[in-house]
Amino acid sequence: MAALPKNEIITIDGPSGSGKSTLSRLIASRLGYTYLDTGAMYRAVGFKARKMGIDLDDVQGLEGVLANLDLQLAPGQGDTRVLLDQEDISDAIRTAEMGLVASQVSAQPVVRRKLTQMQQAMGAKGMVVAEGRDTGTVVFPEARHKFYLDATPAERARRRCEQLREKGQQADEEEILQQIIERDDNDSSRTVAPLKAAEDACIIDSSKMTVDQVLVFILEKVENL
Ligand code: DC
Repeated sequence: MAALPKNEIITIDGPSGSGKSTLSRLIASRLGYTYLDTGAMYRAVGFKARKMGIDLDDVQGLEGVLANLDLQLAPGQGDTRVLLDQEDISDAIRTAEMGLVASQVSAQPVVRRKLTQMQQAMGAKGMVVAEGRDTGTVVFPEARHKFYLDATPAERARRRCEQLREKGQQADEEEILQQIIERDDNDSSRTVAPLKAAEDACIIDSSKMTVDQVLVFILEKVENL
C-alpha cells in the first residue's frame, strides 16, 4: 500500500448506529491514524450541562458550560476514553439517554462553534479519521476522503441491540428503534450543520454489508484516490 500524505484527513459521517465508530476505529488503526470521535465531545458537553443543572437550550448557561471546558480524548483499542475536568466519564456518556442529551445540545450554534474549533485544532496536523455528523460538510470540508455511512433504521436498531446484549445488557429492539428515529430526526432537522452527506462524499448503504466488507471498500477507495 502506498503511504498516504501526512496531512490526510478521512471523514466518516452518518446517523447513529450506522457502524461509523467501529469502522472509524478500524480504519484509523489500519492506517496508523488518530481516531477523532466528535460525538463523544457533544456527549461530554451534554454531560457537563446536566451536571451543572443547565437547561439544554439555555444559551447563556451553555456558554458557562463551554468556558474553561477541560476535555481530553484518549483514543485506545475500544471506545475513546473521555476525560472531563480530569474525571473519566467514558462510560457515563455512552448511554441512550446521553445520546439524546448530546443531540439536543448539538443543535445549539454556540456549542457547535466551540466544538468545531476544537476539532479543527485536533485535526490540524492530519493523519486523522474524524467521525460524526458534519465532519465532511463543516469541520473538514477540504478533506480528500469523505464517506457517509447509512443503514436502514431497523438494521441499525438490530445492531445496537446485539451490541448491548453482547455486553450483557438488556435491550428492547422496539424502544431502541424509536430512539434511533427520534435522534435521526433531531440531527437532520436542526438548522446548523445538520446530518447530511457532503456533496463529494461516497455514500455507503451498509444494511446488507458486513463490517469487513465496508472496511475493505473504504480502504481500497482511500488507497486508490
Ligand atoms: O455519534 P454519537 O452517537 O456519539 O453522537 C451523539 C450526538 O452528538 C448525535 O446524536 C448528534 C451529535 N453530534 C453532532 O451533532 N455532530 C457531530 N459531529 C457528532 C455528534
